[in-house]
Amino acid sequence: MAFCVVLRFFAWEDLFELEQTYRDYLRARYGVGDNGSLNDFISRRDGKLMFAKVDLEALVAEHGAPLEVAYCPLITEQIDRMQEAAGRARAEAAYAGAFIYAYATKANFSEEVVRTALKAGAHYETSSVADARIAMDLWRRGIVPAERYIFCNGSKEADYIAAVLKLRVAGNASVVPVLDDLDEWGAYQACPAGLQLGVRAREYAKCSGGDRFGLLPDEIDEVVASLSGTPHQLVLYHAMVGSQLEDQDAWLAKLEGAVEAYCLLRRQVPTLRMFNFGGGMPTSAYDLGFEFDYAGFLEQLFARIAATCARYGVPVPDVVGEFGRYTVASHSMYLFDVGKVKQGRNGEAPWYLLNGSLMVSAPDTLIVDDQQFIVLPLTDWDQQAQEVRLGGRRTCDSDDQYPRPGQEPLLLPKSDGGLIIAVFGVGAYQAMLGGKGGAHHCLNPEMKRVIIEQEGDQLVTRVVEEQSLSQIMTALGYGTETQPARTRRAPAPRVRRPDIWRTTVRMVNLRRAPSSGWITSN
Ligand SMILES: Cc1ncc(COP(=O)(O)O)c(C=O)c1O
Repeated sequence: MAFCVVLRFFAWEDLFELEQTYRDYLRARYGVGDNGSLNDFISRRDGKLMFAKVDLEALVAEHGAPLEVAYCPLITEQIDRMQEAAGRARAEAAYAGAFIYAYATKANFSEEVVRTALKAGAHYETSSVADARIAMDLWRRGIVPAERYIFCNGSKEADYIAAVLKLRVAGNASVVPVLDDLDEWGAYQACPAGLQLGVRAREYAKCSGGDRFGLLPDEIDEVVASLSGTPHQLVLYHAMVGSQLEDQDAWLAKLEGAVEAYCLLRRQVPTLRMFNFGGGMPTSAYDLGFEFDYAGFLEQLFARIAATCARYGVPVPDVVGEFGRYTVASHSMYLFDVGKVKQGRNGEAPWYLLNGSLMVSAPDTLIVDDQQFIVLPLTDWDQQAQEVRLGGRRTCDSDDQYPRPGQEPLLLPKSDGGLIIAVFGVGAYQAMLGGKGGAHHCLNPEMKRVIIEQEGDQLVTRVVEEQSLSQIMTALGYGTETQPARTRRAPAPRVRRPDIWRTTVRMVNLRRAPSSGWITSN
């Protein structure tokens, strides 16, 4: 063990040049030793690393690594926290409109995730035809209550529009198609049942790639001009400006023009009553130093909307947010084993080679410029901290590395292998971008998953086993030798096609347990 002496005051960036234990490094940087919170979902208790109520070392002792852990009560906490912040903000700003929290399901479509968000009171935001069909199924089964909005975003092909219309014709009056293109309007106009419509403003989608979404001001005017005589109403104005928007003032400044545009439109369209700022709410899941005053942001937003509406002489709208990343990023994490350590050359940091792949399991390491994830060791806190590079051992790809070249260095305890590391904040987009249930890069199998959910006052656990080689081979078509292509088989009996929802549920390999030794009581 390398215990060390700190000889001078240092910037944390210098730490890897000094002999310092990992524990001292973390204490110096985040003020946390063997006990205390590192953020709102990671803590240390008696030297153990905790993910919410889960003792990660004990969990690995039972299930091994690699392992994915989904802790659904964190989703509920996120929604409750935002609702509470919005309640305070509304009271402070004396805002007369309501606050509407929608879950942007594109961040994570997993059944337990969507179900948890809905149970916590979230409205639904769809992004695709399959998403709209899931919403339909959930509504029919009462999991999406009838009064919950279903905001349908994205550029819509004919089958997506048909799925939206099917919802409305089946009697769901809370579905709100948000026009992304003028062509969509033509298709909705013919709907016999009155639709509540939204328009997405292209003007404010200033993030890279965002400019393709929504309608230009004259296109919105065209929709407004052709509304009369139809049973439809324009009720929502959508202005999304970006994602993970940590600069509160910059975000508010970007929304300013959109709020004015809302007011101008409201003067012409008395049915307009919702201002939707879309996604963008930042999450604490990626950086232990993260700070954002949610209530403060919303209070300023409400105050500015109220002031602008007063200036234009229009009533204040209900404010809608579509929370993807914020809702789910923190609820899931990975555990990897550093199976092999390879020393760096020419003074470079050593490689910690993981029994998995970050580029497969956390593709944002590759896609998003400067994407950060919180990486912490489970043990060896008394070892010297050193700068390391993580490499995915289960791909043969030079891009399977974290941090990316040029990113802030990663510090972990010195190790010769066998160290287990936790990668946090992977609950949003990672599984959807990486894909579920198919074949992945270098045939890296999907890791075993432990899913923890709240049922009444109990936490219950499900385990989904690691993806098997035969599942991967079947996905690639290798299983077919057992059925020679030229052999005629008897036609399959006609069966009712299962809906998407039932298929999803049946495919999961479940093992349920009421609670486990690695869940602590508080
Ligand atoms: C229309 C819309 N709403 C909401 C979201 C969710 O954004 P975020 O994950 O930043 O909350 C997105 C993300 O792309 C989006 O396109």
